[in-house]
Amino acid sequence: MNTYKIALLEGDGIGPEISSEAVKVLQRVADSGRVKFEITTAPFGGGAYFSHGNAFPEETKAICDDSDAIIKGPIGLSKAESDKIPVEEQPERGALLPLRRRFDTYANFRPVYLPREIRSFSPLRAEVIGDGIDIMIIRELVGGLYFGGKERGESNGKRYVKETLEYDEEQIRRIMHIAFQEAQDRKGLLHNVHKSNVLMSSVLWNEILEEVAIDYPKVKVEHVIVDAAATALVLSPTQFDVMVMENMFGDILSDLGGGILGSLGLMPSACVGPDKSYYEPSHGSAPDIAGQGIANPYSMIGSVALMLDKSFGMKAESEALWNAMQQVFADGFTTADLSRGGEQLISTAEFGDKVVAALHL
Ligand code: IPM
Ligand code: MG
Repeated sequence: MNTYKIALLEGDGIGPEISSEAVKVLQRVADSGRVKFEITTAPFGGGAYFSHGNAFPEETKAICDDSDAIIKGPIGLSKAESDKIPVEEQPERGALLPLRRRFDTYANFRPVYLPREIRSFSPLRAEVIGDGIDIMIIRELVGGLYFGGKERGESNGKRYVKETLEYDEEQIRRIMHIAFQEAQDRKGLLHNVHKSNVLMSSVLWNEILEEVAIDYPKVKVEHVIVDAAATALVLSPTQFDVMVMENMFGDILSDLGGGILGSLGLMPSACVGPDKSYYEPSHGSAPDIAGQGIANPYSMIGSVALMLDKSFGMKAESEALWNAMQQVFADGFTTADLSRGGEQLISTAEFGDKVVAALHL
């Protein structure tokens, strides 16, 4: 039997409560007797800054290094709490980006998945949704503006700032291979999102795409400029299947994806590196509703589903987990954070219990 070591970084705000449900589900998967999980919890995020003096403490790094995969809850504090932390050490800059860099998690998978069972959460009209939406946004996660050189200074009495958008061809090539592979495994359609009418980085991006495309003759490529992509995602989302884009574009368009679904709470994600991957909700820590047991754990349990598939090759279990979550919604239950009225409201923990009950392994 395989034993997998998992580092669990619960994070801030609603992180701990939705993480508990992820653990509950993992335990159920382990109870099926095919696999064992050794889960080690480690401090990470704004809370860790105050308790350990560092948003990404050394002990957490060691636990992550020693794990087979990492599950990470959302991080971030209220503005008032965040303001007490020096800018460079705030959890996004001081923990999240260093985590991405440490494990070189360059391929970020963000499913915008709206099956029939949850279509009522979407603000889009029924005729726009059609038979459902199933888009995989693939975001390059360790390059571009996020990781380029930065400078702040003063010149001629004026304050200025400079941030650099950098990519080299290897960085582009490896994310393209991921995207083409995904498109080939799905419907054979890849939308390339760029801004080559303005940005030189997009010109190189598109050049590399053409080179990589030769290896995937069955994949049809459509090009779409990033601003037009934002409009098209709202007006006709069903035309898209796999979309690939650089880091900043992916940050923005994947949140638009959350808008299509009706909530970022319905957006899990996988951050895949060459040796190790980590899994996280795409949303923030929602400090305003933390501790009330009303946050839906979908994004955290969905991240577990992605982990089972991508890190451990447990495709059947992963699918069963997605289905179990849809089943809970189909049965008319939801948590208060997602409610549009008319559903039966249950707590975060009850949602987890129902997912476990609906899980057929
Ligand atoms: C995301 C988040 C992060 C990002 C923040 C918290 C730094 O918005 O994962 O999309 O911009 O990548
Ligand atoms: Mg974001």
